[in-house]
Amino acid sequence: MRIRWHKCLGWLWPGAKCALQLALATGMFICTVAAGPPDQVTSIFKPLSTPAESVYESALLTLAVCAVIFLIVGGLLTYTIIRFRRRAADDSSEPPQIYGSNQIELAWTVLPVLIVFVLILVTARTIADVQNQPAPPDSLKVTVVGHQWWWEIRYPELGIVTANELHVPVSYEAKRKLTFLRLESADVAHSFWVPQLAGKTDLIPNRVNSMWIEPKEVGTYLGNCAEYCGTQHARMLLRVIAHEPDDFARWAAAQQQKGVEDAQVKTGRDVFFATSCVNCHAISGTVAKGRFGPDLTHLMSRDTLASGAAPNTPEKLRAWMRDPQTIKEGALMPNMQLSDKELDQIVAYLRTLK
Ligand code: CUA
Repeated sequence: MRIRWHKCLGWLWPGAKCALQLALATGMFICTVAAGPPDQVTSIFKPLSTPAESVYESALLTLAVCAVIFLIVGGLLTYTIIRFRRRAADDSSEPPQIYGSNQIELAWTVLPVLIVFVLILVTARTIADVQNQPAPPDSLKVTVVGHQWWWEIRYPELGIVTANELHVPVSYEAKRKLTFLRLESADVAHSFWVPQLAGKTDLIPNRVNSMWIEPKEVGTYLGNCAEYCGTQHARMLLRVIAHEPDDFARWAAAQQQKGVEDAQVKTGRDVFFATSCVNCHAISGTVAKGRFGPDLTHLMSRDTLASGAAPNTPEKLRAWMRDPQTIKEGALMPNMQLSDKELDQIVAYLRTLK
């Protein structure tokens, strides 16, 4: 038989598109599942916290149901295309016309309704299970406030204020330790999402939302704001660092200290307090009490600057203060028009805020 290629061409594009989509989906799935330790993983398929495990289980069920539907529909479609394709011997008369079948129509209406209903019940149960978790008295309470474009993090019971990097104790089966987050917003809607720890929860102006996490392995968990909140929504990154209980206590004790006063960087300190930096930033134990920008009391204890936009190195810190727009376009921190000398002095001062 001679293959008539021009007839196959029509199938080429849809076929290629389908294959490409399948390859992409498989690739993404493998990448997310095969990823290694908690560091740098942002996959819901590698849950390491109770709420994330519930989300994972209901996602698997939904995927399985969809896969079965896909196989049945795709299989029937493929069978029909091959079995009833046009043949050389066909006359061009119309096939017999059929006007509906009550049984079949009933079946393909009732079955999907039942499937959707089961998925609704499972989802509602998962959400209820996660949301109804009462806060045990020994749980850690943290307030997270979304800002354009950074995260303010406060531990009211510990008297700690920090930004962008949330430190929590790890939770063990034998001694569970939950962290409850109170979520607020200072401006627009944001969304707190660390895929390995829990589902997304929005931070909405004039409203208090809550969620909880329970990291089960020590390490750094990455997340991101998951609700479009303006120009730098994509660089509103989140880091959750889970410590052994002792390490967490040590971290907390260090954060409770007032800002370091190092006589060697007095010039830098004077320049800092003479500019309007203090209107937006706070440094504990000083007159700087601004809340518009991140608290700088222990700036050097953080790994990143500008909510994950740059690593916390002297060079990047200097570049950030020289012109924030070069690191994060649209950032609300103004360019203070500092001279090179002033920049060096302030960087030297900020570097002592361990
Ligand atoms: Cu904050 Cu998107």
